[in-house]
Amino acid sequence: MSPTDAKRPLQLNDNGQLRHFLSLDGLPRELLDEILDTADSFLEVGARAVKKVPLLRGKTVCNVFFENSTRTRTTFELAAQRLSADVITLNVSTSSTSKGETLFDTLRNLEAMAADMFVVRHAESGAAHFIAEHVCPDVAVINGGDGRHAHPTQGMLDMLTIRRHKGSFENLSVAIVGDILHSRVARSDMLALKTLGCPDIRVIGPQTLLPAGLEQYGVRVFHDMQEGLAGVDVIIMLRLQRERMQSGLLPSQGEFYRLYGLTSQRLALASPTAIVMHPGPINRGVEIESAVADGSHSVILNQVTYGIAIRMAVLSMAMSGQATQRQLNQDVEEQN
Ligand code: CP
Repeated sequence: MSPTDAKRPLQLNDNGQLRHFLSLDGLPRELLDEILDTADSFLEVGARAVKKVPLLRGKTVCNVFFENSTRTRTTFELAAQRLSADVITLNVSTSSTSKGETLFDTLRNLEAMAADMFVVRHAESGAAHFIAEHVCPDVAVINGGDGRHAHPTQGMLDMLTIRRHKGSFENLSVAIVGDILHSRVARSDMLALKTLGCPDIRVIGPQTLLPAGLEQYGVRVFHDMQEGLAGVDVIIMLRLQRERMQSGLLPSQGEFYRLYGLTSQRLALASPTAIVMHPGPINRGVEIESAVADGSHSVILNQVTYGIAIRMAVLSMAMSGQATQRQLNQDVEEQN
C-alpha cells in the first residue's frame, strides 16, 4: 500500500471519483449532485422503446445478496442490464455459503470468474466495506444494504425523488418517521439531506426506536406526530425492522400504529403539497394507512422507478472511477 492509498477514502480514487459505493458518510456535495444529475439523464433511457445504453458492455456485474430483497436486487439487475453489462445474481440460500463456505472464499471464487463489480447485501454492518478492502483492486463494490449501517443507493434514490418532486433541498422540511434505530435507510437519508443542504430534518419516533448520537446528523427529534409533522414538505415512513429488533422495544404493532401510523388525518398536519415516501416493503396498517399509501400524495412507486436510474448512475460512475485509477496507477509505474 502506498502512502496515498493509506490517506485516500476507500470509496474514492486519487481524482476524488467514485470507485466503490459503500456509504454516504464523508462524500462531498458535488459527488452527490453528480450522482443525481447522472441519474436524471438515465431516466430517459427507461422511457425508450429499446431501454439500453452500451456503457458497461463486456463488463460483468455480480449481485451477491445474503439477505432478502425485492426492490434493490431487481432494480440493480435492471440497471446493469440497461447499461449492457452481463449480470449474475447469486442466491445465497442455494449457494455454497449455506454449506459452510466463508464470505471470503465465496468472493474469491466469484473474482476468479472475472466479475468487474459486486453488489452486496448483508445482515452485518460493515460487510460491504470488508469486501471492498479485500477484493482485488480492479473490482468495484456497491453496498446494497449492510445491517443497520448504510443503504446508500436507497438514500440517493430518496434524494432524487425529493429533488424531482420539490425542485431543490433549500427551504424544505423533511420528517423521517418510525424505527430509526434499526434503519440503514434513515442513516443514509439523514446524511444525504444534511450534505445536500436541507435546513430542517426531523425524526419522529418513540424513544426506544431512536439511536443515541442523533445530534451528529443535525436533526430535530420529536416523539409526537402532531408536533413533528406540522407543515413538513416530505414524510419518509420507515418499516418496523422486526428482524433486527430485540423484544420489549415496542408494546405492540397496534400501539405503534395508534401513535405513529401515517393516517389521512395525520397527513393533513403536513403541507398541503407534501409527498409521502417509504423505502418498502410497506406494512399497511402497521406504519401506514392504505388510503395514504395509495393516495395522491404518495410517491412510493416513483421511488422504485428512480431507483433504477440511481443504480445505473452509481454502477457507471464506479466503473469509470476504477478505470481512471487503473490508468493513474499505470502512469505512475511508467514514470518509475
Ligand atoms: N428498499 C429496499 O431496500 O427494499 P428491498 O429490501 O426489497 O430491497
